[in-house]
Amino acid sequence: MSVETMQELLIDELKDLYSAEKQIVRALPKLAKAASSTQLRDAILTHLEETKGQVERLNQISEIVGKKLTGKTCVGMKGVLAEGSEVLEDVGKGPVRDAALISAAQRVEHYEMAGYGSARAFAQLLKLTDVANLLDQTLAEEKNADKTLGGIANHVNTDARRVA
Ligand SMILES: [Fe+2]
Repeated sequence: MSVETMQELLIDELKDLYSAEKQIVRALPKLAKAASSTQLRDAILTHLEETKGQVERLNQISEIVGKKLTGKTCVGMKGVLAEGSEVLEDVGKGPVRDAALISAAQRVEHYEMAGYGSARAFAQLLKLTDVANLLDQTLAEEKNADKTLGGIANHVNTDARRVA
């Protein structure tokens, strides 16, 4: 797809986000299973449910703008998630792995925050208020997930520090 206008750029960003969310839905169960901390596992599983809702929001947006959001692969998220699963091969189960998992999960959230923040700004610029509001709801969830992970990291990193 060639992108020339801000409308087309918004659709392009939305396709990217749609692909990213779909990839995350597939990846999170594996990451949850790999975690030792119950708190971390629960946070990942909670965010999995939230992520399914975010895919739904993108489906709603797709209807509003009258464009399909399928057919694009978010290569950036693919890379971020690939690095995340590398952790599972490199670090055995325990608090050090949990610390690494949080680091990987926070990368995912920050990548999404950048994408949703930009898409929301484009939607606002184009006066697509409903779209901007839906994007804003997801952005708030991503920020919250990042904050939760940061909080869990405080305990997990302290436990991981004790591993000699
Ligand atoms: Fe998300």
